[in-house]
Amino acid sequence: MSGQFSAENIGHGTPGHAPRPATDQQPSHFAFDETSEAEIATILARYPEGRQSSGVIPLLYVVHNQMKRDTGSAWLPRVAMDTVAKRLSMPPIRVYEVATFYLMFNTKPVGRHHLQVCTTTPCWLRGSDDIVAACKAEAGLRAFEETSADGLFTMTEVECLGACANAPILQVNEDYYEDLDFERTRSLIAALRRGETPERGPTIDRYNSAPVGGRTTLLEEVGTRHADGQPGTLPDVV
Ligand code: FES
Repeated sequence: MSGQFSAENIGHGTPGHAPRPATDQQPSHFAFDETSEAEIATILARYPEGRQSSGVIPLLYVVHNQMKRDTGSAWLPRVAMDTVAKRLSMPPIRVYEVATFYLMFNTKPVGRHHLQVCTTTPCWLRGSDDIVAACKAEAGLRAFEETSADGLFTMTEVECLGACANAPILQVNEDYYEDLDFERTRSLIAALRRGETPERGPTIDRYNSAPVGGRTTLLEEVGTRHADGQPGTLPDVV
């Protein structure tokens, strides 16, 4: 194919992001392995006969996962998108459209650890510039969309990850690391380089999105009463 909508030119077009350039590292062949075939059978069984094309997004994730298993890099080669199109009886361009619309899909290889830095306003106000700086310093990167020389890290700028209460957020592959600062981000990346998998979630002494220092509301159990006999925070259950 050639021209504006060819697979060679596909890239992420999310407003505010430079399109990801296509890659010349395209494999010539792709076939689903046994693990993927089992997942596909489960996925396609969810859709009525004749509506299997609705499974295009989960099937693209199946490709991502297989590529990660096979090469260490979760991405969508063009030949794999064509394989998905064939399996779902869709024109390939419709699969390319989906793959390039969603920033979650990578249309070129990424490092083993895909560092996705949220720089939207809440994360920016809470120090996402420091997260970017730490990723550059520790992973050896100069800019977004770059992969480190050792192939371990790719840094991408992403929009709100829906976890603003724990800003700033760094998503590494599928995991969220929260409440980060410069030093904790450097430590996280150093641990990933050593082959460790640090615990995901808040990186400070905090339970999920609860306030730092513990809960401040709903402290009474249902049905409890204060020492003076007055009802507790919540009414008694009858
Ligand atoms: S702004 Fe970063 S998670 Fe919402």
